[in-house]
Amino acid sequence: MASSTFLFSLCLLFMKVLALAKAQQPAEQPAMLYKDCVGKGNYTTNSTYHANLNKLLTSIYTNTEINNGFYNFSYGEDADTVYSIALCRPDIRPDDCRSCIRNASDSLVRNCPNFVEAIGGLDNCMVRYANRSIFDRMEQGPYFWVYDDRSNVSDVVGFNQSRMTLLGMLSDQAAEGDSRYKYAMGQRADDRKIIYALVQCTPDLSASACRDCLYNASGLIPQCCNARPGGRVIYPSCNFRYEIYSFYDNSTNSIPPPPDSTLTNSIPSPPASTSQGKKRNVVVIIVPIAGSVILIACVCIFLRARKQKDSSVLA
Ligand SMILES: *[C@@H]1O[C@H](CO)[C@@H](O)[C@H](O)[C@H]1NC(C)=O
Ligand SMILES: *[C@@H]1O[C@H](CO)[C@@H](O)[C@H](O)[C@H]1NC(C)=O
Ligand SMILES: *[C@@H]1O[C@H](CO)[C@@H](O)[C@H](O)[C@H]1NC(C)=O
Ligand SMILES: *[C@@H]1O[C@H](CO)[C@@H](O)[C@H](O)[C@H]1NC(C)=O
Ligand SMILES: *[C@@H]1O[C@H](CO)[C@@H](O)[C@H](O)[C@H]1NC(C)=O
Ligand SMILES: *[C@@H]1O[C@H](CO)[C@@H](O)[C@H](O)[C@H]1NC(C)=O
Ligand SMILES: *[C@@H]1O[C@H](CO)[C@@H](O)[C@H](O)[C@H]1NC(C)=O
Ligand SMILES: *[C@@H]1O[C@H](CO)[C@@H](O)[C@H](O)[C@H]1NC(C)=O
Ligand SMILES: *[C@@H]1O[C@H](CO)[C@@H](O)[C@H](O)[C@H]1NC(C)=O
Repeated sequence: MASSTFLFSLCLLFMKVLALAKAQQPAEQPAMLYKDCVGKGNYTTNSTYHANLNKLLTSIYTNTEINNGFYNFSYGEDADTVYSIALCRPDIRPDDCRSCIRNASDSLVRNCPNFVEAIGGLDNCMVRYANRSIFDRMEQGPYFWVYDDRSNVSDVVGFNQSRMTLLGMLSDQAAEGDSRYKYAMGQRADDRKIIYALVQCTPDLSASACRDCLYNASGLIPQCCNARPGGRVIYPSCNFRYEIYSFYDNSTNSIPPPPDSTLTNSIPSPPASTSQGKKRNVVVIIVPIAGSVILIACVCIFLRARKQKDSSVLA
């Protein structure tokens, strides 16, 4: 009895020390959830393009005028012009959005050194840049998926039906959004489970481009997420996420109100078009490895201690 309690407390202490050690580490950039350094060419270090890229990204995450979570800017002239888009999840606060974009763009530039074009994201935001105009274009590649690998749903067919119905409904709803907001979130009750989902397009898309983008993205479900209780597909122009727990904040005050100032367009936008980029799968499996190893170790220690206790009682 005493030994099991002792071992268990030791284990708790160990976990606590580990958590403390983690908290005391110098602030380091969170790893990107997904990224692709698009192989469209390289810029040279300290070139005008390089300087423009840094300036542009800084101007995005220091911009406090936009509060709808969508940033589309360009900077520079002629061949040195850099175009960038950043998109936050609609339910996060403007401050968190800027912080996320800052971290994501820093990591992206570091992870894709000298690449003229790149795309990547963290949990709550996506950043991309290129030396070609990327506004008003529906792009479906490179794409990414992220899923929860820890368990599978039992009723795959029923779950799939609920998920498809919910995503379809939300996609239609998101497409109806205006030029500042194109997203929708909601839930649907299955026999046993509730599915929560959030879908989002970059708001520069037309309603039909947004719908096409989201429908095509959900077409990847059989490949990425069939029996997964949670999953996401991220296209450059749209993304969706579903979970069996409530992961979004739908209270109205967390969703930023529409901005009252409109930005002026410094660059003529190309006509709306669709472009099928190079498709690249990046499979990201989210498993809290460190956490589960420690947990398993603790459970083992605990069970062993109990077994010892039981056998000592028997003896
Ligand atoms: C982008 O940069 C690459 C590499 O420098 C170059 O080959 C390509 O023509 C550029 N594209 C545009 C639209 O300027
Ligand atoms: C660009 O640079 C990276 C390394 O920084 C290299 O792997 C890649 O092949 C280069 N691409 C081109 C088109 O030169
Ligand atoms: C780029 O500029 C920085 C500071 O201006 C300098 O330290 C660095 O050596 C330069 N790198 C190259 C490759 O020119
Ligand atoms: C950005 O990174 C800093 C550490 O560098 C961290 O404290 C902060 O929470 C991160 N923000 C987001 C939104 O990831
Ligand atoms: C979930 O199902 C897939 C196949 O559909 C299988 O490869 C995987 O091991 C299962 N995962 C769990 C945790 O049962
Ligand atoms: C999931 O539903 C979609 C649309 O209803 C269907 O095309 C697909 O075959 C279904 N997949 C499974 C595994 O039931
Ligand atoms: C950015 O997007 C907004 C709304 O989608 C649009 O009105 C604006 O012209 C765009 N800005 C640029 C620089 O293209
Ligand atoms: C959607 O995907 C299908 C194939 O999966 C493709 O034929 C179609 O062109 C895509 N739609 C758009 C608008 O690109
Ligand atoms: C927000 O979501 C909860 C469930 O997560 C739901 O009960 C509630 O009705 C939703 N509120 C709004 C305003 O949609």
